Amino acid sequence: MPDAKIAVLISGRGSNLKALLDACADPDFPAEIALVISNKPKAGGLEFARKAGVTQAVIDHRDFETREEFDAAVTERLRAAKVDYICLAGFMRMLSPDFVDEWRSRLINIHPSLLPAFRGLHVQERTLDSGVKIAGCTVHFVSAEMDAGPIIGQAAVPVLPGDTVETLSARILEQEHRLYPASLRLIVDGGARISGAVVQYDSQIQCAGSLINPPTD
Ligand code: GRF
Repeated sequence: MPDAKIAVLISGRGSNLKALLDACADPDFPAEIALVISNKPKAGGLEFARKAGVTQAVIDHRDFETREEFDAAVTERLRAAKVDYICLAGFMRMLSPDFVDEWRSRLINIHPSLLPAFRGLHVQERTLDSGVKIAGCTVHFVSAEMDAGPIIGQAAVPVLPGDTVETLSARILEQEHRLYPASLRLIVDGGARISGAVVQYDSQIQCAGSLINPPTD
């Protein structure tokens, strides 16, 4: 089977884009990044695409009067590149219901919390303020609602005494870079698919161990 063609949509730093590019560089990985789109001309992540020799496009949302027109321009590029899946990676634009509808089941996002907790912005700050002891990240299919949709995978990390937004974000981000490629592989391989509101796996996934914070011994 030919590799699945992926588009990655970014707005900024692009460390998750880099993790996906690195994963796809492995000949055994069943996907290739065919296109990177940024809505911000100065997004740092564009440099990762350039270095990897991947086609990149800047579609600046400020050039469009409405969200729908911007989304239509993005769709045109995605269709032209014949992409199979779209990975949102720090893409800071809400997408219109039409866009989500057109790419349903093929549109994936990563969010730095254990959804459905802490949807939206300022996630790590709100996580720290809430006093929860376990944080993490989620890769999920995108639905019309923000930071919602069937969950593909999650990774958990402890919240440690003295954590700041920076230290917690860095701990979560390290897991994002492992979780996103692993989740994409599952979907592209056909080992997991949407079933109603959830994602079901074909085979039993063995996941050992537990995270208890504070530790019990
Ligand atoms: C990540 O924390 C991701 O979960 C969130 O935005 C951040 C993007 O970081 N959606 P990067 O641009 O991939 O480095």
